[in-house]
Amino acid sequence: MENPIITALQTRRSIRKYKPEQITDEELKTVLEAGTWAPTGMGYQDPWIIAIQDPALMERISRMNREIWGRDIDPFYGAPTYVLVFGSDPKKWANSVYDGALVLGNMMNAAHAIGLGSCWINREREMFSSEEGKALMKELGLPEGLVGIGALALGYPASFPQTVKPRKENYYRIIK
Ligand SMILES: Cc1cc2nc3c(=O)[nH]c(=O)nc-3n(C[C@H](O)[C@H](O)[C@H](O)COP(=O)(O)O)c2cc1C
Repeated sequence: MENPIITALQTRRSIRKYKPEQITDEELKTVLEAGTWAPTGMGYQDPWIIAIQDPALMERISRMNREIWGRDIDPFYGAPTYVLVFGSDPKKWANSVYDGALVLGNMMNAAHAIGLGSCWINREREMFSSEEGKALMKELGLPEGLVGIGALALGYPASFPQTVKPRKENYYRIIK
């Protein structure tokens, strides 16, 4: 079936090289807004979304991520915008991680739909469970007790992957 949304879902790729130019505020808000329309458990809208374009803060976040990763390359691939997603402690809100993941998914697909590149960047849970991470969450104005779920690198793609893994056999089955 031909459909522009399905095509966008199939052609989105994780982007690992970005142009240095910043995206427009309109583009950023379009992506963030798309995140807010993700379904959430009981419609509770648990996730918290923070976009960051402040270079000093970005360097700090990149460094914190690198320290956990143990590799000395920018985990955000030089993207000019980071988007961090937080949620309630899963012990208190069982849907927390599912909700946050759907928000991230919506934002990645929205970014692709408007010609931006994005990539999910891991290790937020570890980053924001450290003392430094908790202090940073406070600085960001977040309430206490949240956990880091995931982050996005976001920007104009400087290169787009030309190959894609085929989907695994029997990824889905239909039982009638
Ligand atoms: C939960 C999750 C964590 C990921 N973490 C990272 C990461 O830390 N760094 C990275 O470069 N890509 C990360 N990715 C991107 C995946 O590697 C990528 O989605 C996968 O290889 C498929 O490629 P595609 O997104 O281009 O289809 C992550 C994706 C998911 C869903």
